[in-house]
Amino acid sequence: MKQTEKSAISAKNITMGYGSFILQKEMNFEVNPHDIFIVMGGSGCGKSSLLRVLTGLVPPLAGGVWIQGTKFSGASAQKQKEIMKNCGILYQSGALFSSMTLAENVALPLKQYTDYSEQTVQEIVSLKLALVGLAGFEEFYPSEISGGMKKRAGLARALALDPDIVYFDEPSAGLDPISSKLLDDLMKNINQSLGTTLVVVTHELSSLLDIGTNSIYLDADTKTIIGRGKPADLLKNPPNQTVYEFLTRGK
Ligand SMILES: Nc1ncnc2c1ncn2[C@@H]1O[C@H](COP(=O)(O)OP(=O)(O)OP(=O)(O)O)[C@@H](O)[C@H]1O
Ligand SMILES: [Mg+2]
Repeated sequence: MKQTEKSAISAKNITMGYGSFILQKEMNFEVNPHDIFIVMGGSGCGKSSLLRVLTGLVPPLAGGVWIQGTKFSGASAQKQKEIMKNCGILYQSGALFSSMTLAENVALPLKQYTDYSEQTVQEIVSLKLALVGLAGFEEFYPSEISGGMKKRAGLARALALDPDIVYFDEPSAGLDPISSKLLDDLMKNINQSLGTTLVVVTHELSSLLDIGTNSIYLDADTKTIIGRGKPADLLKNPPNQTVYEFLTRGK
């Protein structure tokens, strides 16, 4: 395994926002290797923005991000690209290209980042599709499969380069409970069998309580982290009313 026991991600004193609009101030947290790290918080507190900062799409206004011990924020575009080769992202809708088959979609990062032969690419593609329960769907187009299958195909693409870290933004949004549970089981399985570190933005209670090994709660009012730890432990021992209410919605 490539991953060492250093922090997978270190966020040090990150302030993030857009221009003079501050979303969160001086955030500090560590994501350990093999964590399923959940990012929680109310709508608009900056969860998706945090993923953009962690993946280099938006620079932090202050502070820095280290990925596996290497400074990421402020690094050259080339260095960031090199680090990102080791990080997969599952976008909200799966973000598959509709004019391409599932095999072509999953092959994209392999063609972009490696010089593997066509045969090797096809072997890896079939392997990754099988990993997410889509063996035999190589020649299907995104419009021919269900929402849950699209998410899983997006996950196969995120896993194409065997990343150490995978980011997810609201993976169960728009899925029925059964597809959602299937995706949770798959994420847990990948985390356990491949040792992949997962960073997951979600407000889906059953999911985050089931799969989360660590978490942060971003508060929109104070613009700070007001809860951290394993979600199931936070539920037993809530640090404040806001986190308590978030974790007991509908109960
Ligand atoms: N590119 C941008 N420029 C300016 N403001 C932005 C930009 N992207 C997001 N914002 C603002 O930042 C705030 C936080 O957005 P973000 O999408 O990070 O929140 P979120 O916690 O993911 O919310 P949700 O739960 O609704 O997905 C919002 O008020 C949004 O309007
Ligand atoms: Mg969001």
